[in-house]
Amino acid sequence: MRLNPFKLERYFARHEFNVPFTLCSSDCESWTIDEILSLEAGAGDRFKDHWLGYTESTGAPLLRAAIAELYRGVGPDDVLVHSGAQEAIFLFMQAALGPGDHVIVHWPCYQSLFEVAKGMGCDVAPWEARAESGWRLDLEDLERALRPNTRAIVVNTPHNPTGYLMPLADYLELHRLADERGIIVFSDEVYRELEYDTGSRLPAGCDVSESAVSLGVMSKAYGLAGLRIGWVATRNGEIRDRMAGLKDYTTICSSAPSEFLAELALRHRDVVVERNLQLIRENLVLVDRFFEAHAGRVTWTRPQAGPIAFPHLEQEDIESFCDRLRAEAGVLLLPGTLYDHPGNHFRLGFARRNLPEALARLDAFLRAGHPRTWLEA
Ligand SMILES: Cc1ncc(COP(=O)(O)O)c(C=O)c1O
Repeated sequence: MRLNPFKLERYFARHEFNVPFTLCSSDCESWTIDEILSLEAGAGDRFKDHWLGYTESTGAPLLRAAIAELYRGVGPDDVLVHSGAQEAIFLFMQAALGPGDHVIVHWPCYQSLFEVAKGMGCDVAPWEARAESGWRLDLEDLERALRPNTRAIVVNTPHNPTGYLMPLADYLELHRLADERGIIVFSDEVYRELEYDTGSRLPAGCDVSESAVSLGVMSKAYGLAGLRIGWVATRNGEIRDRMAGLKDYTTICSSAPSEFLAELALRHRDVVVERNLQLIRENLVLVDRFFEAHAGRVTWTRPQAGPIAFPHLEQEDIESFCDRLRAEAGVLLLPGTLYDHPGNHFRLGFARRNLPEALARLDAFLRAGHPRTWLEA
């Protein structure tokens, strides 16, 4: 298998920890261990006593039970815990696909969602979300792309990088089209629960279809990326068992302290998610004002969920703009070219506490160019 460099992750590896303001993070502001332990009386003492041996390969039973609570129709045995969503993406592709299989992938997207299949020799076709239609996915495009050897459809909603949330009718139709042809839907739901209107939350893929695989993670909606705990939930026993077998060759089991903290956070996820959504709501007030003020320079489709959007920059090449902004104002934006998207877009992240200052710097930069570099300031 041959994998191309993961452009977005290489960019973050180079810049994320060297720039004072990251304005393109795809996750929510994180928490300290102490804050998570404070969610429940006695949790700190239990954490100190927690056993550091190997844990169950499928995931600690209490954690799988807490994860199963996120869904309607799956139980703890339908959940397979991984080290982040990334491991689950990798193993799903290995378990479900083979060279020559046709795979349709929601695009633009987080690179591994198509790159792993491509690296395995699959025939990967994009299902394109178009800026001009507000990043909507067209079901007629999907039907046209289907082939007799289509094995999987990969969809990510709420979406990275656009924040697009599929309407329920479209989402159900996608599953119907896939089910009637025996195609597996791999449903990346890492932003589920961050809908601005909770009434618009979609049912999980694994609850809609017996063969679909839902992907979840602690990193995004819960803001706990450092735990590196992700999972799949599915009633598709064949895929789940194959993924479990492959996991013996990657991580075997997850980190015991992370499983403890993830289980605790999930049992209190109403508090955790509400804090994160509150921050998003507060920051969106500023972000809305920003787009009004710069209507001629930057335009966006306001997202319906999640902490990111994919605005468009007028007048200047997005890569050179991001380079100048980083060097002169100390603010990191992510050029859309890292998604191989040609449309002069950038990813904006707005679930961090320092957003007001980061956005103020971007605002000043756009108004005047920046008079001094942040190093000199
Ligand atoms: C849509 C999507 N899926 C999966 C992942 C991988 O998540 P993790 O880094 O927690 O493994 C990401 C990370 O950015 C993502 O944006």
